[in-house]
Amino acid sequence: MHRKLIRLLALIGIAQIVFIASSQETVRLGTPISESQLEGFDLIVAADGSGLPAGSGTALQGKAVFESRCQACHSANGEGTSGNTRLVGGDMHSAGNPIRTVGSYWPYASTVFDYVRRAMPADAPKSLSDIEVYQVTAYVLYLNGIIDQYLILNSETLTQVKMPNRDGFIDESQAQ
Ligand code: HEC
Repeated sequence: MHRKLIRLLALIGIAQIVFIASSQETVRLGTPISESQLEGFDLIVAADGSGLPAGSGTALQGKAVFESRCQACHSANGEGTSGNTRLVGGDMHSAGNPIRTVGSYWPYASTVFDYVRRAMPADAPKSLSDIEVYQVTAYVLYLNGIIDQYLILNSETLTQVKMPNRDGFIDESQAQ
């Protein structure tokens, strides 16, 4: 009796191993990603500007990019067609809900570059070249009165841009 039970348990064990092995064969884990595909994801620009690519552009050049690729959703001067698509003006100090835009809220210009490069235009993300992203980022900063239209934005000058709300955030990363 005892032996039979052991044999039965052993059989169940083997059956389980066979089942796991065969189910592993049918799990579709996909194919390894290639280096060139990975490049399309490895685009993160940090707040300190690390990760900014080569290239440069001015707001003067960015106007044309904005008009053809952004204006449909963000209107001619970036006022937007809704609260979400408003890129200019705004106010963090009004009594009601603050109006958050690139100009009033975003603490780092590098984040504008990073966001535009990865997420905009919303109908065709990642379709702009790095140079176009520099140009249109310059234009959005210019529309907010943060830089002038001739400033050549590149990995160095972009990090030097001081956004109006840079000091409006509290670092709680060390909070207990
Ligand atoms: C098809 C419509 C569309 C187009 C074209 C488009 N955007 Fe946007 N954009 C949006 C929407 C919608 C949001 C809000 C997304 C959200 O809140 O999640 C947004 C958000 C943004 C923001 C963040 C705004 C904020 O204050 O949070 C920036 C910056 C921006 N877009 C820049 C651009 C630039 C530059 C272009 C052109 C290269 C562009 N967008 C083209 C629809 C669009």
